[in-house]
Amino acid sequence: MKSAPQQKLSLPSIKTFDVENIRDDFPILKQKIGGKKLVYLDNAATSQKPKLVIDAMNRYYTEENSNIHRGVHYLSELSTQTYEAARGKIHKHINSNSEKEIIFVRGTTEAINLVAQSYGRHNFTEGDEIIISAMEHHSNIVPWQLQRDEKGINLRVIPINDKGELFVDKYENMFNSRTKMVALVHISNVLGTINPVKEMISIAHRNGVPVLIDGAQAVPHSRIDVTDLDCDFYAFSAHKMYGPTGVGVLYGKEKYLESMPPYQGGGDMIKSVSFERTIYNDLPHKFEAGTPNIAGGVGFGATIDYINQIDFESALAHEEFLLKYATEELLKITGLRIIGTAKHKASVISFVLENIHPHDIGTILDDEGIAIRTGHHCAQPVMKCFEVPATARASFGIYNTKEEVDTLVRGIHRVKKVFG
Ligand code: ALA
Repeated sequence: MKSAPQQKLSLPSIKTFDVENIRDDFPILKQKIGGKKLVYLDNAATSQKPKLVIDAMNRYYTEENSNIHRGVHYLSELSTQTYEAARGKIHKHINSNSEKEIIFVRGTTEAINLVAQSYGRHNFTEGDEIIISAMEHHSNIVPWQLQRDEKGINLRVIPINDKGELFVDKYENMFNSRTKMVALVHISNVLGTINPVKEMISIAHRNGVPVLIDGAQAVPHSRIDVTDLDCDFYAFSAHKMYGPTGVGVLYGKEKYLESMPPYQGGGDMIKSVSFERTIYNDLPHKFEAGTPNIAGGVGFGATIDYINQIDFESALAHEEFLLKYATEELLKITGLRIIGTAKHKASVISFVLENIHPHDIGTILDDEGIAIRTGHHCAQPVMKCFEVPATARASFGIYNTKEEVDTLVRGIHRVKKVFG
């Protein structure tokens, strides 16, 4: 069977990259855990935050805190400006057409739920089909299942090969007149696979079908250009790209967002309300009911400033080096199997050790100050594909080092000794 032609995200070659300089920006990395130097390898769950972001949020609460879009007083206008400036920075960062296409949400999960609930409720009817893939996170499965249960739609699942790559040829044959949406992960949080989303979006568009991309794991590992991808929706969170938790973005093409009904009702999403009739606000506010996570938005803006301040391309190339080095070193360990060996991967390595449960790996590594994630990673169908109940997962960020990979490898040898 033919496997997916894989698309590589653009990663220019590294010339110089001073990882110690980057590490200095992240206060938490100086911590010791049980007397051991923290080795933080759980970046796919959440990344650490640079001082610039922490300071921006502290400053907001210390000097600016006020509700936005509501007051005529100085602080309200100031916080509105800072919050809306953050939206502008994100718009530029992902190259959307306008700020109207940037909807602030709680995170990737809420962004996908918004599309499923608003676009789905409005457009799906019984018998319609949604295409997802076998490597989706639960947050890109369950929202569509809720629509299935409500509307009687069907989910079609693109299969994966034993490396963890999508079968694009099978995907191409899944379209029919009932296909209403493709919802696809850009980079798998378990396998690290970088999916050829640009090609897959173009296939969907040839069939007249819009595409939502779950970009939660892609935003920290690449530069995203939604105009170049031509995706219809792109969902991502700040906290995986060195920003705060509790805030994320749904990017949507204006033509879709304009046609969609609000997701939630409340303050800020209206122009006028009477008991007879409510007129909704313009984009993006139509989808932003209630007081938002203002400090989170401010922190998100500072996150974009941080990414623009560092040599992000070299940082990405550094991550690529870490992935290659860690893969080589881990494969030298007898009994270790990497789950997810796609040709094009981001810096996420899931693995299992013969006869040792992943939770035991995680616990022993924790004794060494090494933070990894163990479990099903909110992607149980992927576990089923690879016939494992769980994996251990090391995921790298721009501040990780070659020496930390060596510490991980030594830690795994210790795990083997303890359970051997
Ligand atoms: N989805 C996040 C992860 O992969 C939490 O760890």
